[in-house]
Amino acid sequence: MAIVLASILDADWSKLADEIRDVDRAGVDGFSIDIMDGKFVPRTTFGPKDVSDIRNLTNVPIEVHLMVSNPENHVESYCDAGADQVVFHIEAANDPLSIIDSIHARGLRAGIAILKETPLDKLSDDVLKSIDALTIMAVTVGFGGQKPSSETVQRIIEIRERAKEINPNLFVVIDGGMKPDNCSEFVQAGADAVVIGTGIYHASNYEEAIKTTHQNIDPNEPVSKKRIEGLLAIPSKNRSEK
Ligand code: DX5
Repeated sequence: MAIVLASILDADWSKLADEIRDVDRAGVDGFSIDIMDGKFVPRTTFGPKDVSDIRNLTNVPIEVHLMVSNPENHVESYCDAGADQVVFHIEAANDPLSIIDSIHARGLRAGIAILKETPLDKLSDDVLKSIDALTIMAVTVGFGGQKPSSETVQRIIEIRERAKEINPNLFVVIDGGMKPDNCSEFVQAGADAVVIGTGIYHASNYEEAIKTTHQNIDPNEPVSKKRIEGLLAIPSKNRSEK
C-alpha cells in the first residue's frame, strides 16, 4: 500500500482553491505543499498564511515541505498554520535533532528531506531514529516536470535496510518525477507515498490520474499499511469539520 500526495507547485494558482478542492474530491490521500524561500532553491512559493487558507479547504493530511535555509526559524509558523507533517532539508539544518524535537513538541509529525545529490550517510542514526518521515528527492528541487533520477530505487532499498532495526515505521516519501504509470517500482522498492505534481495537475482528468496511480500501487500490501496509518491517523486537532 502507498498513498498519493498531490504537490500544488504546478497547479493553476489563479484558481488555487478550486484546484485543491477538485483534487481532494478526485480522491487524493493528501497534499504536499512546497515552501521555497528563494535561497535554498532559486524561487519563492507559499507562506504560512497560504497553508492555513489551504487547511480550511480540505480535511486530508497536509505535509509542508520546507525548501528553506535556516528551517529552525520557520517550522513553528507552519506547525501553527495547520500542517500535519513538517519536513525540512537535512542540507539546511545545523541542529536537525532540535528542530525535530520542536515539531514533535507541537504534536505533529517531523520529516527530513534529502536532495538527490546528497549521500544517504549524511543522515545520522540519531536523526533516522527520531523522524516520522523521510522524503527522498528524485529530481532537482525547485521545479516540476522532471524525470526521476535512476539512483532513486537503490536509495529507497538502502534506507529501508538501514531503518529496519532503528525505525521500522519510517514513512518513506518519493518526491519528483512520479507519474501514475511509473510510481509502482518505487513503491515496490519500499516507498509509502509518492508526491505527484504535473502527473496530476497537467492531467486532463484528475480523478483518472489518481485512480490509475492507486491501481498501480497495490492497496492491499499489509506491512506499509501500518506505516501509512501513522500519517492518516494524525490527531485531527488541526482539522475542523468541513
Ligand atoms: C520540486 C517539488 C516537487 C514537484 C513535483 O521541488 O518538491 O514536489 O512539485 O512535481 P512533478 O511531480 O511534476 O515532478
